Amino acid sequence: MSFSFARPTFTTAAEEEKARIGASIAQASLFNTLTPEAVDDLARRSSIKRVAARNTIVSQDEPGESMFLIISGRVKVGIFGENGREVTLSVLRQGQCFGEMSLFDGKSRSANCIATDPTTLAVLHRQDLLQHIARYPATALNLLGDMAGRLRRADESIAQLALCDVNERLIHRLVHLAEEEGTEADEGILVRRRPTQQELANMIGSCRETISRAFNQLARDGLIIVQGRSLIVTDALMAQAGKAAA
Ligand code: CMP
Repeated sequence: MSFSFARPTFTTAAEEEKARIGASIAQASLFNTLTPEAVDDLARRSSIKRVAARNTIVSQDEPGESMFLIISGRVKVGIFGENGREVTLSVLRQGQCFGEMSLFDGKSRSANCIATDPTTLAVLHRQDLLQHIARYPATALNLLGDMAGRLRRADESIAQLALCDVNERLIHRLVHLAEEEGTEADEGILVRRRPTQQELANMIGSCRETISRAFNQLARDGLIIVQGRSLIVTDALMAQAGKAAA
């Protein structure tokens, strides 16, 4: 069941903020099956936090006190190895949550979460989350569903690391990016802000030099088209990836 969040007349800035949080919660796919009462309860317990691009929101190994819903902007989830190399686990967008794992298992933060764009978040403290779940258990089921989805994606990445070469992993990543944030264009799917080659390397567990060679070969073969900061993932590459997966 989905519903739209009715926008009331505000008397204070605080009420306006709660209504904004409520609207964002109601629209988030993670929460859009909750009842209006549950959404309202979550909104009342949450506050807004604004984070500038490149600022760290959550640091690996710190204790976790809150979870976050992205109202706007983007957040990169990553881990740094001892040699300083970075692995990007995910890039989260509007309507997605993070920071819940340490609230549930009581351990330290499992990864770093860094705003890649100016980002607005709804923040919910552990105690509020637990009190909310005691009244509205459906929220816990939604969070479990989200964590199951994340585990599936992690399984897929592990399988790819073990079974696919860098070229196949790069193609898979580019196709996934096109599906996640691309828009239809004449020759294929347009990704407006393409990741740098270093960012792609961090996403698929490789180094920039190797990615550079594989990326340039795809461009020479006409399977991707670079247009400034944008990228077109061609229909031919989408079809090639579809055949490989079938
Ligand atoms: P927590 O461990 O509290 O803080 C870091 C957060 O990063 C974690 O909760 C999750 O919300 C998020 N996170 C960890 N691993 C992944 C992953 N593989 N994909 C997406 N998000 C993740």
